Amino acid sequence: MERIGVMTSGGDAPGMNAAVRAITRWGKDAGLDILGIKRGYAGLLNEEIIPLSDSDVSGKVNRGGTFLLTARSEKFRSEEGQQKALEMLHKNQIDGLIVIGGDGSMRGAKKLEEKGFPTAFLPGTIDNDIPCTDYSIGFDTAINTVTNIVDKIRDTATSHERVFIIETMGRHSGVLTLEAGLAAGAEAVLIPEIKFDIEEVCRIVAKGYDRGKLHNLILVAEGVDYTHGESYADRKNRVVFEIGKKIESRTGHEVREIVLGHVQRGGAPSAKDRILASKMGSRVLEGILEGKSGMMVAKEGNLFRMISYEKVLNNEVSIDKSLYELAHIIG
Ligand code: F6P
Repeated sequence: MERIGVMTSGGDAPGMNAAVRAITRWGKDAGLDILGIKRGYAGLLNEEIIPLSDSDVSGKVNRGGTFLLTARSEKFRSEEGQQKALEMLHKNQIDGLIVIGGDGSMRGAKKLEEKGFPTAFLPGTIDNDIPCTDYSIGFDTAINTVTNIVDKIRDTATSHERVFIIETMGRHSGVLTLEAGLAAGAEAVLIPEIKFDIEEVCRIVAKGYDRGKLHNLILVAEGVDYTHGESYADRKNRVVFEIGKKIESRTGHEVREIVLGHVQRGGAPSAKDRILASKMGSRVLEGILEGKSGMMVAKEGNLFRMISYEKVLNNEVSIDKSLYELAHIIG
């Protein structure tokens, strides 16, 4: 392989730039041509392909977002779109493609792989919902971002003795919410993986005030199905308001709701994410060059391994129940 393409796809995550930088510089050092594909699969279909040099990735390690830009492409999901993508890769004499993104982006890479084009994948999502790897890039930064914001909310919550219901991202996963909730010292953490009883949450709030607490902070993952039965798209960004209404009427304490939204995806990557991105970037490039295509780079303890898409997609991220209990007992 002499020409490797790299793209960022799906929701951006802090550390994506550091990963592209590592792939580019590691590749250049090995005498390869590295090509950046802008706007993910959408950009590939439009042939938005640019050569990347050492200096193109200069000053990027500390930058949030993705300088290659990103998108979610409907067109690529079709057979016709995938054929067009292959055509573009061949036309530009690209020998292998590295995709950085979340699980949807990995499924896209798998489609190309199944059609005979070598791809490799680097997990980049704040959700940390990709199986078989301890972490995806962006997660550490996002936990820190959420923790910092909740610390600020606590100040005003305390001054007014209010309950705050705070919605966090994660799509169908509660991993980000759970870890940020523990770090921020939230009184309760509601996540889609563990069923909760709203009456119990009301009791936690009431008991907190009885014990002299001046605030109650409740983190709610956006994937929590409190409205029962409504689709994720319909209930999105409404769950916290439904829960807030219930708690206010049950406990008589004043409630405010806040949807943190995309602020969670922004900001400079943490040192941990920069290091993870650099290691994963170099390892995924080595992997595809060694013929380990159709695979994702994964962090397992101190090891970085290539794991097949099949294995990743046939696994699930399991929630750490002991962390959940800990968050509630000490929160
Ligand atoms: O997958 C990352 C993520 O931020 C999810 O946590 C969230 O549900 C989704 O992307 C939001 O997507 P969009 O930016 O397209 O609204």
